[in-house]
Amino acid sequence: GIDVSALLKETGFVTLDQGFVNTASTTSTITYIDGDAGILRYRGYPIEQLAEKSSFLEVSYLLMHDALPTPQQLKDFADKIRVHTLLQEEMRTFFSGFPRNAHPMAVLSSATTALSTFYQDALDPLDPEQVEISGIRLMAKLPTIAAYAYKKSIGHPLPYPDNTLDYVENFLRMTFGLPTVQYDVDPKIAKILDMLFILHADHEQNCSTSTVRLVGSAQANLFASVSAGINALSGPLHGGANAAVLEMLEQIRKDGGDVASFVTRVKNKEKGVKLMGFGHRVYKNYDPRAAIVKKAAQEMLATLDKPDPLLDLAFQLEEIALNDDYFVSRKLYPNVDFYTGLIYKAMNFPTTMFTVLFALGRLPGWIAQWTEMMNDPANKIGRPRQLYTGAAEREFIAIDKR
Ligand code: ACO
Repeated sequence: GIDVSALLKETGFVTLDQGFVNTASTTSTITYIDGDAGILRYRGYPIEQLAEKSSFLEVSYLLMHDALPTPQQLKDFADKIRVHTLLQEEMRTFFSGFPRNAHPMAVLSSATTALSTFYQDALDPLDPEQVEISGIRLMAKLPTIAAYAYKKSIGHPLPYPDNTLDYVENFLRMTFGLPTVQYDVDPKIAKILDMLFILHADHEQNCSTSTVRLVGSAQANLFASVSAGINALSGPLHGGANAAVLEMLEQIRKDGGDVASFVTRVKNKEKGVKLMGFGHRVYKNYDPRAAIVKKAAQEMLATLDKPDPLLDLAFQLEEIALNDDYFVSRKLYPNVDFYTGLIYKAMNFPTTMFTVLFALGRLPGWIAQWTEMMNDPANKIGRPRQLYTGAAEREFIAIDKR
């Protein structure tokens, strides 16, 4: 019953754009997306080239510094991160305080906020040196925290980082290694995970990145801002979609594998039934990252001794959806997370860790976006307007008279 256009007139020039469908919150030089053409570039470099030829740390440097590093710059960047991978011993004790079944995303965001308690002398968002060291600390410590969140969930001891290993190998060893057993990281697995991190590294003003910027716009420190971004990412409509896709595929398999009838339920808009991993606010074409992940999933899953029946279900779902008018007319295509879960599963990550992996990949983007905002002279605190649709003035009634 509310006449929104009348309200808009009354309020003057306030724009109502729920979900920010068509409102730019900032200018940015970091990531370019053409959603109709399915193009994604970081700092001008096409995602396909970066995924094939670059490494996650090189891409992180690119996002944060607006230039590909020279060999020496990359070595210095990797070395700086390497010497910060340890957590303070007090911080290691936090992990025993969480319940065994704590969701690793909740542990990750809590521990990220807690980092600010250990580095109180270097939190000033307006001091570029303090910001730089905070970014390095986050890059270095988040994989350690992520691995500990997992170790905690299975009751295993928390290992120390092994700084002779590279970034992703170190994370994989902390996650899957055991003190009593020699554990050699499979370089093929490390390479694929590194590539998936590249694909997730930035995606302009998505929900979590906008959150990181909004919190930072109040001049909250980088740890607090990134922790807020992790919480935004945990939602099933955002980063949580990679886990939701796998749960959806498992459910279809349990129900007998009837893909067509599941698609019918989606089209009938049954409550809570969506084709997870499909659709995107910006891409109205095949997500270019999804094309790369699909190929990687095919290659990775072909190496398994036993084929994963869920991959076949995913192929069938995609095939049906891409030829169905419901999806075609709404321009719904697979997004980056339609196939990632299948790869993570083949790597032996439990479903609860999938979104944590997304967070590790997205981290350099959050840092780059936050820093860009802080350095932007036009930056001011984020403070959206609203259209008030509540009651007109009312007289207070004493409690005994109600
Ligand atoms: N399954 C079924 N129908 C869908 C889906 C889907 N996955 N996505 C959108 N639609 C339908 C909507 O019901 C709507 O239909 P209508 O016009 O009949 O009302 C239409 O397509 C437009 O969808 P909106 O919800 O308006 O699109 P919006 O841009 O707000 O949402 C989103 C984008 C959240 C990604 C949505 O497509 C979705 O929920 N997808 C599933 C979750 C998912 O995969 N999220 C990951 C996003 S990518 C990322 O964070 C990595």
